[in-house]
Amino acid sequence: MKILVVGGGGREHAIIMKLMQSEKAQKIYCAPGNGGIAAEGAECFDVSATDIDGIVSLAKKLSVDMVVVAPDDPLVMGMVDALQAEGFMTFGPKKNAAIIEGSKVFSKELMKKYNIPTAFYEVFTEADKAIEYLKKQNSYPAVIKADGLALGKGVIIAEDEEAAIKAVHEMIDDKKFGESSARIVIEEYLTGPEVSVLSFTDGKTVVPMISSMDHKRAYDGDKGLNTGGMGTVSPNPYYTEEVAKECMEKIFLPTINAMNAEGRTFEGCLYFGLMITPKGPKVIEYNCRFGDPETQVVLPMLDGDLVEIFEAIYNHTLADVKISWKEGACACVVMASGGYPEKYDKGIEIYGLDEKGQVEGCEVFHAGTKLSEGKFFTNGGRVLGVTATGLSLRGAINSAYEGVSKITWDKVHYRKDIGQKALAAIENDPLNLDYKDDLEDYLEENGVYLRQ
Ligand code: AMP
Ligand code: GLY
Repeated sequence: MKILVVGGGGREHAIIMKLMQSEKAQKIYCAPGNGGIAAEGAECFDVSATDIDGIVSLAKKLSVDMVVVAPDDPLVMGMVDALQAEGFMTFGPKKNAAIIEGSKVFSKELMKKYNIPTAFYEVFTEADKAIEYLKKQNSYPAVIKADGLALGKGVIIAEDEEAAIKAVHEMIDDKKFGESSARIVIEEYLTGPEVSVLSFTDGKTVVPMISSMDHKRAYDGDKGLNTGGMGTVSPNPYYTEEVAKECMEKIFLPTINAMNAEGRTFEGCLYFGLMITPKGPKVIEYNCRFGDPETQVVLPMLDGDLVEIFEAIYNHTLADVKISWKEGACACVVMASGGYPEKYDKGIEIYGLDEKGQVEGCEVFHAGTKLSEGKFFTNGGRVLGVTATGLSLRGAINSAYEGVSKITWDKVHYRKDIGQKALAAIENDPLNLDYKDDLEDYLEENGVYLRQ
């Protein structure tokens, strides 16, 4: 099969890496792609991921057999509908289902109507009314969200009334996120560990992928501004079997059924952003696509043929496909441009990568790079996702950082603590004996003796 992947970040690189492992994939194309994707052997075309007409013409010109639409914007704009109208097999939800990410108001109303656990909320279009509500609630931190897409930056956690009022004015009156923030959601502040669960679904069957944990803030210790994600680990130790079962019963299946009941069948990758609160798991957000950088740690763990899975979703036969997950763990450390997520320079030469844009012992997913005369240059805020698998989470993290240590450029920035929270959670869990230095001593202290 000839497959065109739309997008050009680390997520798309990870998807392409996995598609290339399939015997069914003869040729992979990407638009717009990036330096690392090109070096991986996928031919890249300079067509923007949001140019619907341009992508449809490219798909026709290349006479591809399948188009995978990976980013949120083109999905919300209806790229899949346009491609299907021309007879292409696609991966990704149609416009009427992608709204689950495209509008926070839609997703909150869906959850309310179908009793899916989420934070309590109200919707506002007028600053005065929103401020009146904040004053009446007088509960901080307050969570203020733009209705529409805002590059992952449309959520403000306001610590006090002053910050909350400022956020309301910026969003509604100053249109900080354009029309995306003309409507806002103010919701209850939840606490607990966060878990990302991506799932494959054809609208009939839902297959959760291995869980993961994102690190959204720019600096170590979860400090600094929110970013698109500075690193990930998989699996997420907070997502126990018990939590998984509860999520399936109360969140995953009810969401798939709710979308069907609304005439908005979801086909593609549905991403559940969850918080494990003291009152059980609740939905923080839905995404209508693979997460970035979650995909970079989830797909390397997939024991299955991604082309076959995508075909089955399109044909509504997902129930017939075998999907399993590898043992062990995976970690991805994002290397970013100094200054990201605010101002940063581009076009800086990257040192330490081989001619394929890789380093030994890791899989380097390129997020924002450009390949020019055999050299790689920075071309975005998030530049590389250095990824490694291991038998244990500690092993995966160590290998990923070993990879990071081989790469550098002027003003490079990355977090040094990716996975530390997950490691601490595992090591504090007495049931997780793998991580005890001296298993027998530990068991004896707890009154358990191993039979020789
Ligand atoms: P979102 O873009 O909706 O995923 O929100 C970005 C981040 O804001 C999440 O990953 C959470 O860390 C935080 N957040 C969003 N909603 C809430 C909430 N209701 N309570 C606490 N934190 C939240
Ligand atoms: N990493 C979160 C997202 O993809 O939105």
